[in-house]
Amino acid sequence: MTQNTVPQHVGIIMDGNGRWAKRRGLPRQAGHKAGAKAFRNIVKHCRQRKIPYLTVYAFSTENWKRPKAEVEAIMQLLEEYLDEAFAHEDEDKDVRVQVLGDISPLKPELQEKIKQIQDKSRDKTGLTVNIALNYGGRDELVHSMQALAQRVKEGRLQPEEITEGTIEQCLYTAGQPDPDLIIRPSGELRLSNFLIWQSAYAEFVFMNVLWPDFGPQELDQALKEFAGRNRRFGAV
Ligand code: FPP
Repeated sequence: MTQNTVPQHVGIIMDGNGRWAKRRGLPRQAGHKAGAKAFRNIVKHCRQRKIPYLTVYAFSTENWKRPKAEVEAIMQLLEEYLDEAFAHEDEDKDVRVQVLGDISPLKPELQEKIKQIQDKSRDKTGLTVNIALNYGGRDELVHSMQALAQRVKEGRLQPEEITEGTIEQCLYTAGQPDPDLIIRPSGELRLSNFLIWQSAYAEFVFMNVLWPDFGPQELDQALKEFAGRNRRFGAV
């Protein structure tokens, strides 16, 4: 089977901010700030590499268990990025910003900013940046199943009409290609509830670098490894 050597969709689990800060004797929040900087850099580099979709895991459904100050610091960094994206959107870049996840528990101003940037950047065709925020793969599937069950209840869908396609249409990533490359820095070897449906055929690259130290060179290294993989999608 032939394959694109450049992935159409890259997913990144931005892990290691806390350890990065600890090694420097800094508070965890400083690690997240450095992580947000690394994220901006990677967005730029994805555009240069002509990658059409990037999804980053910014805050999981489980991350609410962290200390309040840390949660607030992450939300603040996200808000700063959304403000910046909104302010520069006209002149800027062909970047579409989307948030994946249930945004209803977020503070109303943040929800509003998310809706505004999603609306404003809707027609951009260069790079789609998905920020997974209050996101969990299982939660996303529950959400999708509930939407389908509702249609069945209302008589608009027969149970046998539920297919992979109808499930996908109800995911936060509806209409987007599945991630073909998922990168996890920081040395951890797990998926942590990230894009569990969509990653069925993804290639995984695990790296030992901590996320704040992840730059264009590390992305290129992962892209090179991806280009060398032999993807068979179940065929021989
Ligand atoms: C995981 O590292 C990282 C997070 C839970 C937060 C990620 C958030 C950002 C990079 C900042 C905001 C994002 C954007 C898109 C502007 P960890 O804290 O679990 O690290 P550790 O395992 O070393 O403790």
